[in-house]
Amino acid sequence: DRAGIAQIVFNKEHYPEAHAKAEDLRSEFVVAVEGRVIRRQKSNPEIATGDVEVVATRLHVLNNAKTPPFTIEDDVTASEETRLRYRYLDLRRPRPHANIELRHRIFLAIRKSLDELGFFEIETPILTRSTPEGARDCLVPSRIHHGQFYALPQSPQIFKQILMISGMDRYFQICRCFRDEDFRADRQLEFTQLDLEISFPRQEDIFAAIERVMESACTVVGVQAKGPFRHLDYKDALRRFGSDKPDLRFGMELRNVTEFFEPARVTLHFEGNVQALVAPGAASWTRKQLDELGEIAKSAGARGVYTVKVTAEGIRSPLEKNLGADALKKLAENVGAKAGDLIVAVASKEQIPHTDASLGVAGQVRLHLGDKLNLIDRSKWEFAWITGFALFEWSEREKRWVSAQHPFTGIYEEDLDKLETAPWECRSKGYDLVLNGNELGSGSIRIHRQDVQARMFKALGLSDEQARQRFGFFLDALTYGTPPHGGIALGLDRVVMLLAGEKSIREVIAFPKTTAAVDLMAESPSEVDESQLDELGIAIKKVEKQS
Ligand code: AMO
Repeated sequence: DRAGIAQIVFNKEHYPEAHAKAEDLRSEFVVAVEGRVIRRQKSNPEIATGDVEVVATRLHVLNNAKTPPFTIEDDVTASEETRLRYRYLDLRRPRPHANIELRHRIFLAIRKSLDELGFFEIETPILTRSTPEGARDCLVPSRIHHGQFYALPQSPQIFKQILMISGMDRYFQICRCFRDEDFRADRQLEFTQLDLEISFPRQEDIFAAIERVMESACTVVGVQAKGPFRHLDYKDALRRFGSDKPDLRFGMELRNVTEFFEPARVTLHFEGNVQALVAPGAASWTRKQLDELGEIAKSAGARGVYTVKVTAEGIRSPLEKNLGADALKKLAENVGAKAGDLIVAVASKEQIPHTDASLGVAGQVRLHLGDKLNLIDRSKWEFAWITGFALFEWSEREKRWVSAQHPFTGIYEEDLDKLETAPWECRSKGYDLVLNGNELGSGSIRIHRQDVQARMFKALGLSDEQARQRFGFFLDALTYGTPPHGGIALGLDRVVMLLAGEKSIREVIAFPKTTAAVDLMAESPSEVDESQLDELGIAIKKVEKQS
């Protein structure tokens, strides 16, 4: 399964005993063969061992096998559910095998490059207390302390900062993190991070370390990634690409065309801004293609999608009755649309305070257009550092300002006085690493002064008692001579997924969970014995299932 396949020949005349045994072989049997390697009469160029074969002198059947529920080959037709239930058979296929090997090689390359840069790999606890990364915790009840719970780490954030306080200077860890949140193609309940932290860093030092790491990881698949990666301001990324993780493998930047739509604000029922994209060659799109575009825009939160066809014969658009032919012509000129192009304009349905929601909608429409029009150069590896984030973001659900990243992210000294009065104006010392439209990682220069950290907790709505109860040990540690420090964490499942050319991180994890957070093979989560619950002092509440 691991090194590949070889052809074995059983010769009835010369080795009748081996031949007779071979007649009972079925797929997936485990055998040992003794014999001679010879050149094949007719080579098979399709496989690596296609020039040779083994003439078996003896055959030993080491184990038999039941008929597998699906054929073990790369073009598998079985559903993902069946594949995950029989993951041990699924992993025998060449592609998952190659992905698991690639994961190993990438991890090894990362460890080697960080060792060369003077980092120590240090483990931090799995049974710990809540770390605020914005997801729900996975909790583990304590048998010894009834009614008390450990939390599995959402990240080693606090521990790595404490390691800097401990004088470890350069830490990294390839670590498992646990977050109970909504799962998607790029999210799992448990996932793996490359976590690192440096004392006395400049932002460039952290970027340089990660650039080295990514260069060496990319080398494993023969991709050249050369640092320094480009830098992009968060606001510019949003304004130009409608995303804080822009796919820079193609252009098609957003254009703010609100002024052209202003006269029709009431009739078209939109609020906020209107963003336009010029889709090259899409003027010939069919009704069906336009309907699909409309659906994508709506599910991204658009009020509506307005299209303008620019053709050699003139401009055609359902908007003509709202805006007039002249305005449409000016619009086409303004956005630089040529004959054959389709102008796609969107406004958002909902207004989110302190946010221009039209940008996010247009960003998603841009990705759809880029894909459908084949504008994305799949051979490109476009890394970018995104900087200039705001420290807080508005939570519509909680109706308050929350950390855009986590509460340990550094704040510009000049903005300190706005912490209490104008939190939305506070600039963060955070940064993200983006690759081909995916957020690979996120980090920051940290708060290293106790008084600032205490103010930050307060600004986030924690009372002194709450801050002490949750983070008292950390606030204390900060008072014993904490060096300035900063770091980052990369999602390694995503790194391997992209380098393997896969669309889901499930394809590069040996034993992934489904989107419903279930391990179909091991059948977890599962109920436990009454006696185990008794020992933990736990009784299960019966809750009526809501329909
Ligand atoms: P953050 O929460 O942004 O930062 O996580 C860092 C990176 O981890 C990956 N990631 C995930 N991958 C798979 N499944 C998930 N559920 C999941 N959640 C996150 C992403 C993300 O960019 N402690 C901070 C880092 C720091 O400040 O140093 C942190 O964890 O690729």
